[in-house]
Amino acid sequence: MPKTIDYFETTYRSKNVVDWYDKLDFLFPSEKALFEKCKEKILGKKVLDIGIGGGRTTAYFANIDCDYTGVDYIEEFANLVSAKHKQLKIKQCDARVMSMFTDNSFDFILFSFNGIDNMDSESRIKIFKEIFRVLKSDGVFMFSTHNRDYKYFNKMPWQEKWQFKWNYFKLCLVVLKNYPQHLKMKKHEFHGQDYSIINDIAHNFKILTYYISSAKQKKQLESLGFKNTKTFDFNGKDCDLNQKDPWMYYLTNKS
Ligand SMILES: C[S@@+](CC[C@H](N)C(=O)[O-])C[C@H]1O[C@@H](n2cnc3c(N)ncnc32)[C@H](O)[C@@H]1O
Repeated sequence: MPKTIDYFETTYRSKNVVDWYDKLDFLFPSEKALFEKCKEKILGKKVLDIGIGGGRTTAYFANIDCDYTGVDYIEEFANLVSAKHKQLKIKQCDARVMSMFTDNSFDFILFSFNGIDNMDSESRIKIFKEIFRVLKSDGVFMFSTHNRDYKYFNKMPWQEKWQFKWNYFKLCLVVLKNYPQHLKMKKHEFHGQDYSIINDIAHNFKILTYYISSAKQKKQLESLGFKNTKTFDFNGKDCDLNQKDPWMYYLTNKS
């Protein structure tokens, strides 16, 4: 088993990564669309936001009427967001063991920006089980995860379509500069029937990331009891097989 969690912990505790997440202050178009779609489960309801990082989504929920709780595995992030939003319930908590929450507690649970993808496969299943437990029977769980059907899955920028743009050349330079780190990490990659764990460009090739197709992700969720799983693209549009987006969004529930 690759030491996915060790690389995740070391990288996410570093000051430059904490600072990077601290500065994020936007919502993705998909998130805007899906929060709107789920508003009946959010407005005036109990919301659990898992993996809050620097508080990008916390800032959104802080401005609307809901009973919000935000958690993060990394203490540095929990402290940072707690200081920004003193009125909110922010806790350090590993989503694999959410014993601080009782069964059937939340109307809406979010694990945004592929936060679940830096855990190993066993931990991922534990997290889904815990989410299933603390989600109300009519609640909704929303998350995103990397897409193994993405047409440039596991490819370097120069294996994609050439673009005569400054950002594209800059990206190639960043990749070249960090290539030795990538070669070091590549030996930990795993390609199974159901999912892959690869070293992509995120955080300059310092972490390992879980990728799964939407069909396999739906099956995984179903095997844990989740029902009515729907998949969405970057714009929050319903889509099943998706080869254009590197990650996909999911809404699922218990009944
Ligand atoms: C990719 S970052 C996203 C941060 C934030 N949600 C955002 O959208 O900007 C993933 C976050 O999930 C957290 N995380 C990863 N695994 C976790 C776990 N098992 N329990 C709680 N938080 C976790 C990480 O510490 C990190 O802050």
